[in-house]
Amino acid sequence: MNFALPVCSDVVFAAWSILCRTIIVETVKKLVVLTGAGISAESGLKTFRDMGGLWEQYDVTEVASPAAWRRNPELVMRFYNERRKALFEAKPNAGHLGLAALQEQFEVVIITQNVDDLHEQAGSTLVVHLHGELRKARSTEDPNLIYTLDKWELKMGDLCEKGSQLRPHIVWFGEAVPNMSVAAEFAKQADVFAVIGTSLNVYPAAGLLDYVSGNVPVFLIDPNELPVANRKNFTFIKEKAGIGVQLMAKELEKY
Ligand code: OAD
Repeated sequence: MNFALPVCSDVVFAAWSILCRTIIVETVKKLVVLTGAGISAESGLKTFRDMGGLWEQYDVTEVASPAAWRRNPELVMRFYNERRKALFEAKPNAGHLGLAALQEQFEVVIITQNVDDLHEQAGSTLVVHLHGELRKARSTEDPNLIYTLDKWELKMGDLCEKGSQLRPHIVWFGEAVPNMSVAAEFAKQADVFAVIGTSLNVYPAAGLLDYVSGNVPVFLIDPNELPVANRKNFTFIKEKAGIGVQLMAKELEKY
């Protein structure tokens, strides 16, 4: 295998350094955005719970849990290899690009449940991944040994430098969400908060809105209705992310 050097927890480091900087200099407004699979749908990546979504095709307990990995690692590997292959062929869409462009006006923090890197490819500089990253693999023996993959296929027999099997660098159901505390801090600091393309079914990510102060303007972009608690300053843009982000950007010109 042709792996790059181990990656330290770079996102956590970047996130904390921005948090510290913000405490000292409160000038630019902070736009915090929680994204889900819907933002990548127009890039051709499948969502999970829409009609024809991944959880209609696969049993989540068979492919996305530590028990599944113990029971049938080949199946788990195949599932994530398919996802990675699709990602290698995908490009950021107008939604990702529109959020990256908003960095000219705001300090934009993207908190994503997505394991793709389309936000980064679009140019977003601060992206907190709650559920891991598809382009990375990590050691099953030492979780600090994380490697960036340069091709889509990860195989049984691909080993870390200590000789243990590599697994997808994904947060599976039943595992802790290490970046949640950083994400919650950002949510608390938001001057504007947006939720884009997530069904808000999966916790703790779905609970992030609870950390956002009551008077902060909240935008929700989704082509489908979602049960979101009543809030002040709440704007629902019932559109796909590509057009929805453009409409939100227009509204944000007033801020
Ligand atoms: P879901 O599949 O649950 O929800 C996708 C959301 O995107 C829905 O609300 C859709 O209406 C919306 N949507 C569809 N097309 C869209 C478009 N073009 N633009 C904007 N929105 C669109 O996906 P998530 O909420 O991201 O976790 O799922 C959360 C987590 O559940 C995932 O991270 C994954 C999954 O199980 C793990 O695997 C740990």
